[in-house]
Amino acid sequence: MKEMVFLIGFRGTGKTTLGKLLARKLGYAFVDTDKIICQRKGASVKTIVDQEGWEGFRRSEVKVLTEFGNASRTVVATGGGAILHRQFWQEMRNKAIIIWLTAESDVLLQRICRNTSMMDNRPSLTGKEVGQEILEVLHEREPLYREFAHFTIDTGRMKVMETVDSIYRTLTKKIESGRI
Ligand code: S3P
Repeated sequence: MKEMVFLIGFRGTGKTTLGKLLARKLGYAFVDTDKIICQRKGASVKTIVDQEGWEGFRRSEVKVLTEFGNASRTVVATGGGAILHRQFWQEMRNKAIIIWLTAESDVLLQRICRNTSMMDNRPSLTGKEVGQEILEVLHEREPLYREFAHFTIDTGRMKVMETVDSIYRTLTKKIESGRI
């Protein structure tokens, strides 16, 4: 059995909230790559991007991802743009279970705008209005999420605990049937 789980998906799909609960259910450790990057730099994503640009942030991101690619019994919540590191996911697909969390774009907009305390971790990616940005960036990234995910869970339909149960059930079923 693969004992590493990566949660991928756009901003606002619940990777951190669901990841923590899933880790507890599995008896695994939990890490959030954004949190680690910010702790190590002693700065928010916004400050890192202001100082180093998105390229600088992505360099730190791939370093942290690679480090946890070698861990075991851990659920890793990744940032929405982590999927841009194609080579990492190509290597990881045979070593870990990769779960793509989704939600409709209007659900994402509501969640992102509601969570103003998170805005420091979510500086603009395009400089465009947030609803437009979600549509454009989702369009660019969806093929990548699809390419690397072992399975997908829609997080917009159920309550948090029901969603965690659904992820857990799908995960264990696929592992037991030897499909991942
Ligand atoms: C990003 C998503 C953020 C964070 C950074 C970049 C992205 O993570 O890594 O702002 O490129 O979509 P969340 O998905 O946890 O918001």
